[in-house]
Amino acid sequence: MDVETLRRSLAEAGQSHVLQFWDELSEAQRSHLLEELQDFSFQELNGFFHRAMAAFSVSSTQEKVDARMEAVPREVLGSVTRDQEQLTDWEAQGYTHIAYGKVAVLLLAGGQGTRLGVKYPKGMYDVGLPSRKSLFQIQAERILKLQKLAKEKHGKDCIIPWYIMTSGRTMESTREFFQKRRYFGLNEEDVVLFQQGMLPAMSFDGKILMEEKGKLSMAPDGNGGLYRALGAHGVLKDMEARGIEYIHVYCVDNILVKVADPVFIGFCVAKEADCGAKVVEKMNPTEPVGVVCRVDGVYQVVEYSEITLPTAQKRSADGRLMYNAGNIANHFFTRKFLQQVVDVHEPQLQHHVAVKKIPHVDTQGSLIHPDKPNGMKMEKFVFDIFQFAKKFVVFEVLREEEFSPLKNADSQNGKDNPTTARHALMSLHHCWVLNSGGHFVDENGTRIPAIPLMKEAGDLPIQCEISPLVSYAGEGLKSYVQNMEFHAPLTIDESGVQQLVRNGTCH
Ligand code: UD1
Repeated sequence: MDVETLRRSLAEAGQSHVLQFWDELSEAQRSHLLEELQDFSFQELNGFFHRAMAAFSVSSTQEKVDARMEAVPREVLGSVTRDQEQLTDWEAQGYTHIAYGKVAVLLLAGGQGTRLGVKYPKGMYDVGLPSRKSLFQIQAERILKLQKLAKEKHGKDCIIPWYIMTSGRTMESTREFFQKRRYFGLNEEDVVLFQQGMLPAMSFDGKILMEEKGKLSMAPDGNGGLYRALGAHGVLKDMEARGIEYIHVYCVDNILVKVADPVFIGFCVAKEADCGAKVVEKMNPTEPVGVVCRVDGVYQVVEYSEITLPTAQKRSADGRLMYNAGNIANHFFTRKFLQQVVDVHEPQLQHHVAVKKIPHVDTQGSLIHPDKPNGMKMEKFVFDIFQFAKKFVVFEVLREEEFSPLKNADSQNGKDNPTTARHALMSLHHCWVLNSGGHFVDENGTRIPAIPLMKEAGDLPIQCEISPLVSYAGEGLKSYVQNMEFHAPLTIDESGVQQLVRNGTCH
């Protein structure tokens, strides 16, 4: 596109200020700006803005949504605690689908990790485990292990393709990270990176905000940008060609995530669901998790930023939170359902508004760092397609087994940070050792009481890390630990038990 054409379309959309500093830009800045705006539809952007603002002002009168919310009914709810007798069946079904190559995982990794405060993709983060593994590596090894377990059960090789959605902010560094580490042992062709879209930040009166004189303030268009990206990059076609039927979609930051969890997949398929969500019980009204519920009879997640405190605080007769189906951003979709979303529903999805303080260049060309919110980012949410499901199910799992997200830096507060993530993983692995008949002893050789889960924020867990290549969910550990006593720290990896053993033989 030449600059005159661009100037015209900006003028038609009331966004002429984007080229206000054109004459001051270097050749390189000009060509970068032209390239960035190449395929941009400013009219479409204005449409997004007006629809998002209209929905936002309605949702500001939140009582209306609150009054229409209903908790998830029992009939769509499966649970690892209440449905124990069916878990083995669901797990077996899940493994069959994996073994027959019908399952893929899709990682949402386009976020900017603003709260964590790192400049690189969150998946590259090392929370300080003894192994120093990154979140990406842990997830890759869980995939490798599942492929192996499915092969052992069904006697055939299988692949779980890993689709990774990145954004303009995370694509290059993610690709490079995987390349340098040789895809952690996965086949390069089975790790498919694709990029979501970006949108400019806008002022409250609908003007594009400029980060620099020749650069728009761009941000990824939310994890619901997935659906547009799936269509734009032919991802569903790739899945179809590979024979994929079921997809586990998840967020990058949960250190305990059970990627392609066979139990969850088996449960969703057994219920003939086209869409499912994993939840944990929300314990605290202000916990930053969305709640899965129905609004006007339609399933959706009411996000933590969009629920009012009085509603979040409501309790049932048993004292539990009324809206306690805490979304852990683990979703199940059939490929057919996703295809329908891409073909039909994607344009109907509204952007949510996140009001922010956005640094920008003003009309005089000065860089302003506002001290109060001056604009908004527009984001679609991955769960906004629940409303289109023909059969939606919810699967409740245990927080200590499956959910410990990495959101904040250690310095910020005591929640959801590298320390809590590291401790959650080690506490779980301590449990696995105990469940498989192993014990920990202190420096005097006295057995440490089997109270593995930390009760207080200050409690330190037993240092224990088990490689995902050894165990996916606590299985297969007896031969390593049964009737043995260990001193912490204990690590178990492919080369065996790394530590002093008092009774029994070391592997
Ligand atoms: C998310 C969920 C919330 C849930 C919580 C659990 C959404 C919209 N909200 O909230 O309901 O209770 O996790 O931890 O899913 N991402 C992209 N592209 C983007 C923005 C984000 O791929 O444009 C990815 C991130 O990389 C991350 C995931 O989406 O993997 C979640 O993003 P984040 O902003 O951390 O979501 P939360 O607000 O924590």
